Amino acid sequence: MTKQLEDLFSFLRFPSISTDSEHADDVRNCAHWLIEKLNGMGLDTELHETPKHPIVIARNKHEEGKKTCLIYGHYDVQPVDPVELWDSPPFEPEIRDNKIWARGATDNKGQMLAHILGVEKTLQENGELPVNLIFLFEGEEEIGSPNLVPFLKQHKDALKCDVIAVSDTGMVAQGVPTMGYGLRGITCCEVLVKGPSGDLHSGVYGGAVANPASAVAQLVASLHDADGKIAIEGFYDDVRPLETWEREMWAQIPGVSEKDMLEITGSPSTFGEPGYSSAERLWARPTAEVNGIGGGYQGEGSKTVLPAEAMAKFSFRLVPDQDPKDIANKVKTHLEKHTPPGVTVEVVVGHDGKPYICDPHSENGKAGQAALEKAFGKAPVLIREGGSIPIIQDMKDILEVDSLMLGLALPDCQIHAPNENFYVENFEGGIRLNQVLLQELAK
Ligand code: BES
Ligand code: ZN
Repeated sequence: MTKQLEDLFSFLRFPSISTDSEHADDVRNCAHWLIEKLNGMGLDTELHETPKHPIVIARNKHEEGKKTCLIYGHYDVQPVDPVELWDSPPFEPEIRDNKIWARGATDNKGQMLAHILGVEKTLQENGELPVNLIFLFEGEEEIGSPNLVPFLKQHKDALKCDVIAVSDTGMVAQGVPTMGYGLRGITCCEVLVKGPSGDLHSGVYGGAVANPASAVAQLVASLHDADGKIAIEGFYDDVRPLETWEREMWAQIPGVSEKDMLEITGSPSTFGEPGYSSAERLWARPTAEVNGIGGGYQGEGSKTVLPAEAMAKFSFRLVPDQDPKDIANKVKTHLEKHTPPGVTVEVVVGHDGKPYICDPHSENGKAGQAALEKAFGKAPVLIREGGSIPIIQDMKDILEVDSLMLGLALPDCQIHAPNENFYVENFEGGIRLNQVLLQELAK
């Protein structure tokens, strides 16, 4: 195994699950491993404590006249459940079929370490970098980066830079270099519906008092109209229409046709807002998703019960220029208004993130495209992303700098799911990409 893969395996062995307080020490140990790795490369490092998980910073010696490039990544990972569906243990990385299998392999340790190892290689080959570099790594991305925003505000001057690069997004298909110039935003919320003060016999009381599980089903159903448009009043008010050039460009992009969607997802048919292709629905249109729904008896056989309460968790993916707080208010109003009689509803608004869009043809955007072309041998496709990385718009607001999103995550990499994997080829491509990127940015 190469030294680079050995490093990745060491990095992947930390179960740095940010949402689970039982893993807080693992997250911390992972941050310390990073500090050691970066120190070993001759960079100046800082570990910043936060109320939760540490932030890691590293820099080379900055020189006047050189461009400053900030590279962001996250070393925390998602939980692994259902763990029984993994073909190999999530924190014991393995290579099979030219892929690295482990939680975090793609999201985001593999992509992030590729940047680190690209820098290491350039330093070994040239003794210096063509740019002033700032590495900014957090351990809280998967829980909405609660401590990075205050950190950015506090260290605004120290983080001053000309460009930001992030590899934490997708590549539309293997061998198709991809640059993202947009992300969807997000608003999360939860509803708790309560009826009788305790579970009731569904024969003795059913029909005379309202059923909270039925009420949750009604609320879920009220979010969309019959043909899939979101039925929340004012939801689309601030949605920026798709540009013609984007629609034409996206129609040519491989890997996102209706046929690809069926193949990748295993769904029996595609679904969504009328008048839009799958790519448009994913990258430029907002959604209302139910992430979980529960209430009543879930065990074997039947149980004649009228449950006292029921719940659902929602997330809304947002596009420019929707505002997550405004959407949260509209959702809350909608759910309260559509609550059927006989139950009470409590809406708890969760974390959120703003949508992001930038110009892929800016000077830095062109450098990003050139780097992808040099590293992967063909011109990149330009997409917006369906996923969210809220800190990208926060960095735009606070540091006033746009991000180049140079994604290496393939459609079948299973991020957030069992059997997450990362192509060895993309890991190696990511290392090359970092090397040429710094050269292109320095021009
Ligand atoms: N790396 C992903 C986001 C992503 C994946 C963007 C693939 C584009 C393509 C990131 O780690 C993530 O999962 N973000 C969360 C954000 C949420 C927890 C605020 C998401 O999108 O659900
Ligand atoms: Zn990620």
